[in-house]
Amino acid sequence: MKCFYYFKDKTRLKVQRSAPELKNQSKSYYSGSDLVIKSSCSTTSRRSIPELYEEKAQNLRVFSFSELRHATHDFSRMLKLGEGGFGCVYKGSIKPADGKGDSFEVAIKRLNPDGVQGHKQWVAEVQFLGIVEHPNLVKLIGYCAVDGERGIQRLLVYEYMPNKSLEDHLFNKAIPALPWQTRLQTVLGAAQGLAYLHEELEVQVIYRDFKSSNVLLDKDFNPKLSDFGLAREGPADGFTHVSTAAVGTFGYAAPDYIETGHLTTKSDVWSFGVVLYEILTGRRSMERNHPRAEQKLLEWVKHFPANSKKFHMIMDWRLENQYPISTARKIAKLADSCLSKSAKDRPKMSEVVETLKQIIQLPDEGGPSEKSPESFDNDSDDKDKKADQPGPSDSWKRRMAHLASLGEHVEGSNRKRFMIMQRAKVP
Ligand SMILES: Nc1ncnc2c1ncn2[C@@H]1O[C@H](COP(=O)(O)OP(=O)(O)OP(=O)(O)O)[C@@H](O)[C@H]1O
Ligand SMILES: [Mg+2]
Repeated sequence: MKCFYYFKDKTRLKVQRSAPELKNQSKSYYSGSDLVIKSSCSTTSRRSIPELYEEKAQNLRVFSFSELRHATHDFSRMLKLGEGGFGCVYKGSIKPADGKGDSFEVAIKRLNPDGVQGHKQWVAEVQFLGIVEHPNLVKLIGYCAVDGERGIQRLLVYEYMPNKSLEDHLFNKAIPALPWQTRLQTVLGAAQGLAYLHEELEVQVIYRDFKSSNVLLDKDFNPKLSDFGLAREGPADGFTHVSTAAVGTFGYAAPDYIETGHLTTKSDVWSFGVVLYEILTGRRSMERNHPRAEQKLLEWVKHFPANSKKFHMIMDWRLENQYPISTARKIAKLADSCLSKSAKDRPKMSEVVETLKQIIQLPDEGGPSEKSPESFDNDSDDKDKKADQPGPSDSWKRRMAHLASLGEHVEGSNRKRFMIMQRAKVP
């Protein structure tokens, strides 16, 4: 027999400045309008996100608005790093909490009061990032929430990630192409971040917005997931899924989630599969500038199966054949398993991590010179070059120099890609 629990959202969101009050008001979000479906009736003593947050809240700094205004030269356009659905992100400089030592760089995200994302996402981000700790998740340093003369202000202060996002490196032609080995290391790190969220915390966290623009790169090009505004606590023990309005980004969200609103960790696994195809092809999940048949990445790649002779035709031309085709095929197969129609057939993220590690460690069997008919098209003088090079050495330095020359005030794509896709039918 199935048990149904429906928690009504009675409390209005009211965000205040201090951490404990932030916690109190946010309960309305987590116990709010979502329906949780239970597969068998069982009780659990698992702590909730707000409870865990309460324990760790003191680790976050609470900033005044004037501190952050000062840190960003009054939110100067010159310091703007980009803009997403939440609002603008600025580079800033703040002093250590104890006031001693040198200032350090941070990224400051300021909620746009007219934006589609709002308080709920802001609160979710503070709470989730407040309790997680992993080398592949961006660190939240603190926040600011004031309702003052200048209106409602909600800001988040993160560690600064100087090397932009995976999306920038894959699709921005002004930035040199990301080498094959770096692509693999980046998706491995991102997979480890997701596996931690799904499987290694006291509560299960579903990220819900995995995409290449949310994979940021630190000074050593280590990938870190950012943007926890859509993250949700997974179903409690004995429950199969959380039922919620389907939100996310078109092109990345799992079809079963869009259709039913049933959210599980396997929704993230689908999105991960999409990004695997993005690193293979150098194409966005949705390419509106391509011929109609090629606009939807997942539909287009279906015509070039991993085992087929024509598989190489989907590979990113910017890799200039500098990858082992056998490894690329394995990545495509892994992507296909993440993109299984039935959510339960998709691997767990810890399995994805293991597979990626094996793929990365395997000796280069094929290389770009793999002598199969498919490689004939692309035969060139380059074909005998070592496939997995260049690593993070010379090309790295070139890339860093290039990024520096682009100027850090260059604005992001300015696309607001966050979308509420549809309300799920909640029974
Ligand atoms: N911690 C950070 N360090 C450096 N840059 C950052 C940081 N966080 C975000 N950015 C940059 O700010 C820009 C906007 O980020 P944001 O996450 O708000 O939007 P987005 O990911 O592009 O879109 P969406 O709202 O759909 O997530 C991006 O270009 C991102 O690279
Ligand atoms: Mg983002």
